[in-house]
Amino acid sequence: MEFEKNILCIGAGYVGGPTLAMIAYKCPQYKVTVVDINPERIARWNSDNLPIYEPGLDEIVKAVRGRNLFFSTDIERGIREADIIFVSVNTPTKTFGAGAGMAADLQYWEKTARQIRQYAESPKIIVEKSTLPVKTAHAMERMLQATNNHVHFEVLSNPEFLAEGTAIRDLEYPDRVLIGSRETPSGLKARQELVEIYANWVPRERIITSNLWSSELSKLVANAFLAQRISSINSITSLCEKTDADITEVARAVGTDSRIGDKFLNASVGFGGSCFKKDILNLVYICRYYGLEEVADYWEGVVKINDYQKERFVLNMLTAMFNTLAGKRICIFGFAFKANTGDTRESPAIFVCKRLLEERAELVISDPKALENAREDLQEAQGKISYVEDPYEAVAGCDAIAVLTEWDIYRQLDFKKIYGSMDKPCFIFDGRNILDHRGLFEIGFNVFPIGKPPLTHLK
Ligand SMILES: NC(=O)c1ccc[n+]([C@@H]2O[C@H](COP(=O)([O-])OP(=O)(O)OC[C@H]3O[C@@H](n4cnc5c(N)ncnc54)[C@H](O)[C@@H]3O)[C@@H](O)[C@H]2O)c1
Repeated sequence: MEFEKNILCIGAGYVGGPTLAMIAYKCPQYKVTVVDINPERIARWNSDNLPIYEPGLDEIVKAVRGRNLFFSTDIERGIREADIIFVSVNTPTKTFGAGAGMAADLQYWEKTARQIRQYAESPKIIVEKSTLPVKTAHAMERMLQATNNHVHFEVLSNPEFLAEGTAIRDLEYPDRVLIGSRETPSGLKARQELVEIYANWVPRERIITSNLWSSELSKLVANAFLAQRISSINSITSLCEKTDADITEVARAVGTDSRIGDKFLNASVGFGGSCFKKDILNLVYICRYYGLEEVADYWEGVVKINDYQKERFVLNMLTAMFNTLAGKRICIFGFAFKANTGDTRESPAIFVCKRLLEERAELVISDPKALENAREDLQEAQGKISYVEDPYEAVAGCDAIAVLTEWDIYRQLDFKKIYGSMDKPCFIFDGRNILDHRGLFEIGFNVFPIGKPPLTHLK
């Protein structure tokens, strides 16, 4: 079959894989290829055991793989054949040199630009899918033009707003698709070409266009606002715990104001995921670069509150359990950074587990999807850790449970049976406020929610 367009994506990760699978699914007229430098990742995309867990992803990949969706390690061929190239490589926080711990590490990004420049023989539209510092498109343009083979490149910004755990729904019914371009005739033409791809399934009014810099910056700001909501509500949990106020009641009262809205007001042990912290720090770094110290400090506070919340959770456990955790067995319910994903990047569970191990607690970690990643995250941690998928088996003989991920299965457990199998006194620290606290207390647990008075049998 002749395809209308060849679309390539460089980077087969949490964003590149699902996003391009959705484009292939919605647009059978295009050939979509996803390439990666990691051959194991590509092999898994070509197998029945996909490298990432995302509800609904398996079905979509199975429907289109081999039809108009292909996964490959042949980056050179992919670039030569493509009309449009999405770049969705990782842009982690830099760990070395200037800006270490703050700025985005653009080495993978730059390598991609060099590869495109090396292999491209015909005009290409380059689409920034990765989250990048504002003005990166300019650097990309300069890199691509630093050759005399006269191939024309047009760089667009099209940040991805999907959330892990709901990626397929977010891609199929996005709140908006944002496309930024140069406002030159060739920039506007390229922008239109990308609009037409999305218009295959996204209503036109949801496809927003802007200049390049607004688009790049909007992604950082959207993540900063989302993380800020979480830190705002979490900052109030500590005050609730001091004053006998209840954070769920406060969030409800606040969130029913239509100007504020009720989403993203769930108190928790803190936010995680590969993006929020990295993108805020990136924003902070850019503000400092431009001398905007007050603005930088304001946003940095969001990350500080998140760190404080994670540490507070551990200290609350320590205080409640008579100021010693040494030798105590603690069962961790959930290691993923949120429900419905196996992703553990920046998961609060990593911090909490490491701190509990420092206190010489023994850990039994349970999670329906994230144990493989948890093992890697904690491979260098000192102490006794076991990994047990079945929560009933995991909890047997433990002194305490810490709920760190809001998986639905934890709401449905038989806690009477669990209580019977644990050491006494039994503690439960609900880092997501998802359990029936009164019911647990009545069974015999000492219950420590977030931002609510504890329910305890201890005098
Ligand atoms: N994960 C999310 O929820 C999410 C959401 C929106 C935006 N983003 C952004 O999207 C980007 C990608 O995130 P991700 O979570 O998919 O990362 P990821 O680490 O899962 O995937 C990135 C992939 O790029 C590959 N890669 C790196 N350099 C390469 C090169 N030169 N050639 C070919 N492949 C290369 C890596 O091997 C990896 O498989 C980041 O900038 C991130 O901030 C992520």
